[in-house]
Amino acid sequence: MFTEKLLLWYDENQRSLPWRGEKDPYKIWVSEIILQQTRVQQGWDYYLRFIQRFPNVQALANAEEEQVLLVWQGLGYYSRARNMHFAAKQIMTDYQGIFPNDYDSIRKLKGIGDYTAAAISSIAFGLPYAAIDGNVLRIISRIFGVCEDISILDTKKRITDLCNAHIDKKNPGVFNQACMDFGALWCTPKGPKCHICPFSAECYASKHNMTETLPIKSNKIVKKERFFHFIFFIYNNSIILEKRTGKDIWKNLYQFPLTERKSADTLKGLKKVAEFREVLTHQIVYGIFYMREAKRKPICKENQELVALENIKQYPMPKIMLDFLKSINMDIEDA
Ligand code: ADE
Repeated sequence: MFTEKLLLWYDENQRSLPWRGEKDPYKIWVSEIILQQTRVQQGWDYYLRFIQRFPNVQALANAEEEQVLLVWQGLGYYSRARNMHFAAKQIMTDYQGIFPNDYDSIRKLKGIGDYTAAAISSIAFGLPYAAIDGNVLRIISRIFGVCEDISILDTKKRITDLCNAHIDKKNPGVFNQACMDFGALWCTPKGPKCHICPFSAECYASKHNMTETLPIKSNKIVKKERFFHFIFFIYNNSIILEKRTGKDIWKNLYQFPLTERKSADTLKGLKKVAEFREVLTHQIVYGIFYMREAKRKPICKENQELVALENIKQYPMPKIMLDFLKSINMDIEDA
């Protein structure tokens, strides 16, 4: 009953999206990775640009990492792009460039977890794997009355089993996408459309007045705050950019030289010009920007270079840097 109702709902209410109806596993992969931590509205243009720039596995595998990061620029979570680039090379060497067509091989590719492997397997190859993301955890918890904490592995397993038991074996890809759209449009985290919901008569949460409480999630992430004091060092129409290396966030992206401090207190002797904030999964980064004009040519450290302003669009940067550049009318996103 759940399945039939869901598919009927999907027939009438599904969204028209650029990757809908797509069967090419490469393109489905790209769409699913982009949508992992990005809203459909924001991901839409990135998907189209990514596919245009890298139309297949081979094109992605052959690209320079910096080119991949440039297309990803502004989307955040750049490890998604780095992992895809790595996995494309894996597919070239291990599968002669042909996207693997079984769940286990797909799951082994870098950056592909249970959810993405299930989404690609079902949508591209018609394999019966339920793709469990936050949307699905929410709708199944509410409709079936799963009142245990969804942060616990056992609860996730129970919901996965429930979903796999209900999946439409003839069309698992449609079933998974129906769940995604139902979670995004009807059974939303706040203000779900219970008054017009096809499940309202049997939905546990609706009957027990628990749509606000379900799903139960205990391990809300406590975000660490970080304060990056960036110095926009300008000399003769050039600025210093440095490449981030090491294990920290934004690896291989470019930024102004920075000092990390415990607070947003302004650095002495420097002119603060702007402040921005970027919220990541586990941290909130505050960027405090200072401007400094040099009379003499500055000496760059090993990971730094003096870049002419007209060339900075060739350097992939974190969103907080782009926000700053936009604020001083040096918007490079559409350049
Ligand atoms: N969110 C994640 N994957 C999606 C898809 N294929 N369609 C719509 N929303 C999604």
